[in-house]
Amino acid sequence: MPRRSDTSAQNSSVGGAAVSIRALSKRYNGLDAVVPTSVEIESGDFFAIIGPSGSGKSTLLGMIAGYIDPTAGQIVIDGRDVVPEPIYRRNIGMVFQNYALFPHLTVAQNVAYPLKIRGVPKDEIARRVAESLGMVRLEAFAARLPSELSGGQQQRVALARASIYKPSILLMDEPLGALDKNLRDEMQEEIKRFQQEMGVTVIYVTHDQQEAAFLADRIAIMRDGAMTQIGSPRALYEHPNSRFVAEFLGEASIFPLKSVSAGRAGEARQAVLEGGTPIRIRTDAEAGPGSFACIRPERVTVGPKAKALDNAFAGTVRESLYTPGSIRYRVELDGTGLSLKIRVLPQADMEFYEAGSTVDIGWSADDMSLLKE
Ligand SMILES: Nc1ncnc2c1ncn2[C@@H]1O[C@H](COP(=O)(O)OP(=O)(O)OP(=O)(O)O)[C@@H](O)[C@H]1O
Ligand SMILES: [Mg+2]
Repeated sequence: MPRRSDTSAQNSSVGGAAVSIRALSKRYNGLDAVVPTSVEIESGDFFAIIGPSGSGKSTLLGMIAGYIDPTAGQIVIDGRDVVPEPIYRRNIGMVFQNYALFPHLTVAQNVAYPLKIRGVPKDEIARRVAESLGMVRLEAFAARLPSELSGGQQQRVALARASIYKPSILLMDEPLGALDKNLRDEMQEEIKRFQQEMGVTVIYVTHDQQEAAFLADRIAIMRDGAMTQIGSPRALYEHPNSRFVAEFLGEASIFPLKSVSAGRAGEARQAVLEGGTPIRIRTDAEAGPGSFACIRPERVTVGPKAKALDNAFAGTVRESLYTPGSIRYRVELDGTGLSLKIRVLPQADMEFYEAGSTVDIGWSADDMSLLKE
């Protein structure tokens, strides 16, 4: 039979815990920071939470961590409701935007800290600190002070410190928020590799939708204290259920709909936009007032091939921009007052349309989504 003794004997092969959030809510003096929210996060999942400022992301994370008391609801970690339990019993690691390293302690002492307060023997601390610094590639920096490190290096120390006691869950709140773009990209790779090696369950808050899509298996989009849609990055991008989600995740051209004709399920149907422009859209949903048709910029075809598509228009290029990796246009559809964002992958010998050019543009009915507000 396996024997369990003190914390120092914790198994070094770690896994993630399953987290089940059940009707969890937080109310501050009449303000619902988080409305009753339920979500299942599987063991080893990388779960990202994105949403505008004030939508409740940090409040939700703080309740899971244990430093914010929920108004109601349960947080079940590996089958046990941890709401009544204090922070240190939850076996959760945390990394925040400001690294919160101890400035007077060296890198090694910072990383050792969680083990020290848990009374782990010295030689074992030394071994695990070396292992942890290896995981974040900072072996050579053990003796430095935080002030002698770059922002990215400090964040890696914070990551090593948060994970040295092998938590089964890592919570991160905008951990890369203070870093510049290049460093963020580098750290994203690092965090992903780290999570996969540890097998830990991660709940990760960010403003940055690209970051969420790169890192996460699933993303929850928060709006006014509620998770308004949860899904894989691809599902959220390709099948947003609301205008809010479509606009929050990636670019889109979105038009208010007046009506959608009756039709058989699975067939492209005739629809009319506010203002009277007819379009074709494939949907089984009924569209009433407050519905929108949405088309992503990379789904629009520019040039002669556009004529054969379900939705084909003559247009005039109003803005055109060549950026590394993509060409962007804004095209006005002649006689409609509508304007469309378009993104094209540059290819050899491709025609580039300057502002003022007349072009054919088109898209398939399959590529249009029907959205609610
Ligand atoms: N201690 C508090 N007392 C009262 N209201 C609070 C408190 N903490 C947060 N709130 C409010 O709860 C709401 C959600 O805040 P929260 O910090 O969770 O947002 P967030 O999504 O993390 O925002 P950001 O992206 O700006 O970090 C906000 O309206 C905020 O003002
Ligand atoms: Mg926050």
